[in-house]
Amino acid sequence: MTATMIDGKAFAAGLRARVAEGAARIFAEAGRRPGLAVVLVGDDPASSVYVRSKGKATVAAGMESFEHRLPASTGEAELLALVAQLNADPAVDGILVQLPLPKHIDERAVITSIDPEKDVDGFHPVNAGRLATGLEGFVPCTPYGCLMLIKDQLGDLAGRDAVVIGRSNIVGKPMAQLLIRESCTVTVAHSRTHDLPDVVRRADIVVAAVGRPAMVKPDWVKPGATLIDVGINRTDAGLVGDIDPACAEVAGAMTPVPGGVGPMTIACLLRNTLVSASRRLG
Ligand code: GUN
Repeated sequence: MTATMIDGKAFAAGLRARVAEGAARIFAEAGRRPGLAVVLVGDDPASSVYVRSKGKATVAAGMESFEHRLPASTGEAELLALVAQLNADPAVDGILVQLPLPKHIDERAVITSIDPEKDVDGFHPVNAGRLATGLEGFVPCTPYGCLMLIKDQLGDLAGRDAVVIGRSNIVGKPMAQLLIRESCTVTVAHSRTHDLPDVVRRADIVVAAVGRPAMVKPDWVKPGATLIDVGINRTDAGLVGDIDPACAEVAGAMTPVPGGVGPMTIACLLRNTLVSASRRLG
């Protein structure tokens, strides 16, 4: 079997176009554009590129982008003061503080200082709790984007066996919650899991988010399974995902790297910002 390659880039473009229509409607009705504030502390090159892409995509979707670039020496109190200012600003519907933050800043303190109603990253414990208990809130963008691709591929997911590799707060845990919400039977695997190949072999759906180049091998994959690769590993051979591309010989469908999950993250961020603006405008 040769897997269908899931075109995340095209799916994300469609989602961004729908978000742009929604943003235009809000502008026509409320006289203001949905606004997203992105905060970057320090000059990490990868983060800087992400922040620039987010700003560009925000403007392209007909939304207002507020970019705050602060020096690496910025203190925690100063960052918390900026977040407080953005929480209070009626033009700001979404706030994203780019992670990782410099070591001297407590990431948790910053995330919990964001108004949960503007937390378009879905990282605030209130939104994590809402997701876990079935309440409406913001869902982290990367797992949400993965779920959209999986549902587009498979339709109803009820009863499917899903394995999520990785247990981070940003991807693994919310991904597992989303798949539980879809009535999948979910296993969360991680670095201490015994016999990972055997665990993966049972899965109809595999989401890999560990940051290990080409870790998932073809002989781990159930024939016909849907494979979602969240990994973006920079190697001498270029960008490599967590799933060995040779798995395409066994899988039913899989996301490429790049062009799979990556473009979905920003598209979902714009979608969350639009939803925030709609909620806030009542
Ligand atoms: N750093 C890498 N990915 C993300 C993300 O989705 N949100 C934030 N805030 N920081 C990140």
